[in-house]
Order: sequence, then structure tokens, then C-alpha cells
Amino acid sequence: MRLKELNWTRLIITGIILGLFGLFLGILAAQTGWWQLYAQTPEQPIDFPHTKHAGQLGLACTYCHIHVEKSREAGAPPLSICMGCHQKIATDKPEIQKLTRYYNEKKPVEWGRIHNLPSFIYFSHKRHLKGGVDCSNCHGAVKQMAEVKQVRPLKMGWCVSCHRTYDAPLECSTCHK
Ligand code: HEC
Ligand code: HEC
Ligand code: HEC
Ligand code: HEC
Ligand code: HEC
Repeated sequence: MRLKELNWTRLIITGIILGLFGLFLGILAAQTGWWQLYAQTPEQPIDFPHTKHAGQLGLACTYCHIHVEKSREAGAPPLSICMGCHQKIATDKPEIQKLTRYYNEKKPVEWGRIHNLPSFIYFSHKRHLKGGVDCSNCHGAVKQMAEVKQVRPLKMGWCVSCHRTYDAPLECSTCHK
């Protein structure tokens, strides 16, 4: 009888300890984000919200990513485009004051890269946009992202399966330099 009671107590204590351990792991996971599927978003020098600009204001992606239809790279927007508005808008906000400092000192903002292909791969934005592929096919709903995240694998299988669907070239040399 006594032994059984003792086991119950132990069981409950073990349960509590396991529960706390689970909670600890949960908090750790949420903090580090290791459960995220793809690469982590780097810390950005300016906290730029796509939600506000592409979402609420409804600016076209090409309003800022001005090279994307004409070249391989989409590239980061020139600060002169930002200052077209921010010379006047939200000048009291710390992030805008930071932006203005970069602009006045003619320093480029070193945005952290989020999407990255290995250097042996040939990729071209221009070709895809000409072929009628939309930004969201490859980047997801950026308008709704407070912080841009990679939402597609960017692996060979992903490229090739879409090329099959669209009847786009599949020769190795298409993508391999
Ligand atoms: C007002 C200007 C502006 C508009 C409009 C805009 N962007 Fe951006 N975009 C930026 C800036 C600045 C960055 C770099 C900071 C960042 O990553 O948030 C960026 C970064 C990105 C990145 C991450 C690049 C990387 O490093 O991999 C993607 C993808 C992107 N934008 C897609 C879009 C798409 C799709 C749209 C339209 C729905 C859009 N952007 C509209 C300014 C803009
Ligand atoms: C078409 C006008 C326009 C352009 C172009 C524009 N912005 Fe903005 N931006 C706004 C407006 C409007 C807000 C919202 C201001 C507010 O909430 O008071 C805003 C908000 C912001 C904020 C948030 C400020 C805060 O802390 O609340 C940042 C950061 C920012 N913009 C950076 C940029 C950068 C970087 C670029 C260039 C890549 C850019 N903006 C281009 C109009 C623009
Ligand atoms: C077919 C898929 C695809 C489409 C469509 C696409 N992107 Fe990308 N994007 C990528 C890939 C892959 C990378 C990484 C490229 C690299 O590492 O060389 C990238 C990188 C970027 C970058 C980082 C800078 C750069 O040029 O490498 C930005 C910004 C970006 N894309 C914006 C856009 C915008 C805006 C659109 C629509 C106008 C768009 N992309 C359409 C696949 C795509
Ligand atoms: C959402 C669909 C889609 C995805 C994902 C995609 N592509 Fe494409 N790709 C296309 C289409 C459609 C074309 C043909 C465009 C045209 O008609 O010129 C194309 C064309 C190309 C071309 C030019 C081929 C040529 O010789 O004209 C290259 C290079 C390329 N893709 C590389 C890649 C790589 C590398 C990836 C993965 C990182 C990728 N693509 C992912 C749809 C896609
Ligand atoms: C539509 C674009 C595309 C085509 C076509 C393509 N690849 Fe790839 N391949 C990629 C991309 C993107 C990567 C890098 C990402 C990854 O490792 O999945 C890659 C990676 C690889 C790798 C791994 C290399 C490494 O060091 O990690 C091998 C091997 C490879 N490809 C072989 C081939 C062969 C063989 C063909 C032709 C039968 C081919 N690929 C056709 C896009 C393509």
C-alpha cells in the first residue's frame, strides 16, 4: 500500500518535471527559430516593413526593385527612391532618421541577404518575369511579411519541377554555369 502511494507521488513529480522541460524546449524553439524551414532572416540595419509599403501603400514591387525586369538581379533599391517620400514622411521616426543619415553620408545600406543560390548556378530575374512568372511564385506573399523570409526551398528539385510545368528548358547547362 505504502509503496503504491509513493509511486503515485513520483509519477506526478516526474510528470511536472517533464512538463517543465517541454515548456523550456518550446521557449527555446520560439526564441531561436530553429524550427523554421529555411534560412534565418538576418538582422537588418534598418527595420524596413514591406507590409506598409507593398501592402498598405500598395506600391508595385518594381517601384523600388527597379532593375528586376531588366537584369539578372533584383537588387536593393537606391536610397534616392526612399528619400522621394521620406524627405517629408515620418521624419520624426528613428528608423527614418537612420535612413536619412545613410543618404546624407552617401553610404549604401548593407542589407543582409535572405535568398542565396550557390555561385555555380545561373539565374535571371529578367527571364522569369518575361516568361510571365510572378514574384509571389518564388517569394510568397511579401506584402504580408513584416520581415521578408525565404518560403521556397530554392533547391534544384524546385527549379526543375516548375520548369517541367511551364515547359521551360531542362538541360543541365540552363542553370549550371
Ligand atoms: C518601398 C520600397 C520597396 C517595395 C515597394 C518593395 N520592396 Fe522588397 N525590399 C525593399 C528593401 C529596402 C529590401 C531590403 C530589406 C529587407 O530585406 O526587408 C527589400 C528586400 C526584398 C527581398 C529580400 C531580398 C533578399 O535579400 O533575398 C525580397 C524577396 C523582396 N524585397 C521582394 C519584394 C516584392 C515581391 C515586392 C512587391 C510585393 C517588394 N519587394 C516591394 C524595398 C521594397
Ligand atoms: C511612396 C512613398 C514611400 C516610399 C518610396 C518609401 N516609403 Fe517608407 N514609408 C512611407 C509611409 C507613408 C510610411 C508610414 C509612415 C508612418 O507610419 O507614419 C513609411 C514607413 C517607413 C518605415 C517605418 C517607420 C517607423 O518606424 O514607423 C521605414 C523604416 C521606412 N518607411 C523605410 C523606407 C525605405 C528604406 C524606403 C526605400 C527602400 C522607403 N521607406 C520608401 C512611404 C514611403
Ligand atoms: C523564378 C523565381 C523568382 C521570381 C519569379 C522572382 N524571384 Fe527574386 N529571387 C529568386 C532567387 C532564386 C533569388 C536568389 C538569387 C541568387 O542568389 O542569385 C532571388 C533574389 C531576389 C532578391 C535579392 C537580390 C537579388 O537580386 O539577388 C530580391 C530583392 C528579389 N529576388 C526580388 C524579386 C522581385 C521584386 C520579384 C518580382 C518582380 C522577384 N524577385 C521574382 C527567385 C525569384
Ligand atoms: C515558378 C516557376 C519557375 C521556377 C520556380 C523557376 N523557374 Fe526558371 N524559368 C521558368 C520559366 C517559365 C522560364 C522560361 C521563361 C521564358 O519563356 O523565357 C524559365 C527560364 C529559366 C532560365 C532561362 C532559360 C533559357 O535558356 O532561356 C534559367 C537560367 C532558369 N529559368 C533558371 C532557374 C533556376 C536556377 C531556378 C531555381 C533557383 C528556376 N529557374 C526556378 C519558370 C521557373
Ligand atoms: C532549372 C535549373 C536546373 C537544372 C535544369 C539543373 N539543375 Fe542542378 N542544380 C540547380 C540548383 C539551383 C542547384 C543548387 C541547389 C541544390 O543543391 O539543390 C543544383 C545543384 C546540383 C547538384 C549538386 C551540386 C552540389 O555541389 O551541391 C548537382 C550534382 C546537379 N545540380 C546536377 C544537375 C544535372 C546533372 C543536371 C542535368 C540533368 C541539372 N543539375 C540540371 C538547378 C538546376
